[in-house]
Amino acid sequence: MIDIHCHILPGVDDGSPDMETSLKLAEVAEKEGITAALLTPHHMDGEYVNHKNDVEKEVAEFQKQINDHGINFKVFPGQEVHITGELLYEIDDGDILFADPYNRYLMLELPHTGVPEYTENMLFELIARGITPVIVHPERNYGFQDDHDLLYSFVEQGAATQLTASSYLGVFGKEVEKFTEEIIKANLGTTFASDAHNFKGRRYRMGDAYNKLKKQFGIKMVARYEYNAKAILNGDDIEQGTIMPIKKKKKFLGLF
Ligand SMILES: [Fe+2]
Repeated sequence: MIDIHCHILPGVDDGSPDMETSLKLAEVAEKEGITAALLTPHHMDGEYVNHKNDVEKEVAEFQKQINDHGINFKVFPGQEVHITGELLYEIDDGDILFADPYNRYLMLELPHTGVPEYTENMLFELIARGITPVIVHPERNYGFQDDHDLLYSFVEQGAATQLTASSYLGVFGKEVEKFTEEIIKANLGTTFASDAHNFKGRRYRMGDAYNKLKKQFGIKMVARYEYNAKAILNGDDIEQGTIMPIKKKKKFLGLF
């Protein structure tokens, strides 16, 4: 498995606090069958700024430590880029890390509380530049939870999505779990990632998520999700499948 979203780079955000923890996290990743990870510290989210050059240096140092400790695990520099009005300037400025060497996929975070009005325009601008925004954990966003069609329209527009393994397993509650299942069913999910932070809270859970995916949607969906994670990291084409709007559940009116 390949993990394209995690916070295990030491001491840069609300993820792993130090190298010792990060090395333990790398060891666990290897044990759980994760062979490579895109390290995506928060960037421009109002709390954390992690410049491209710094992340590249830190990831190189982490990889060296991983190798020195005999852990078989490959790490790549990335960012979880928070949407802001400045994003295009930051890209022009060369301070944004893409998921792949060809600057094709961008791990994009929206505010949890909702989808800003300018998102559609921003996606349009990015896609026009040949960049595919990979919207991270849409299932946890209140805006998409309220308005499923919004997610459909963004994927139709050309965005990809990364669903979080633990969301699919119910870690964030039954509602988020059900919404994740609906997203997968409608082919609006592109791949899984862990969004792992540390040992206390959010962990990998990737193997469990893929097992559930196999049971619920079959081996072909597993193959597609695994392929897409690799494709995003390598800058290859992804397979989205035929997308469908998520059906609205009929509300019980309580008339009888
Ligand atoms: Fe994250």
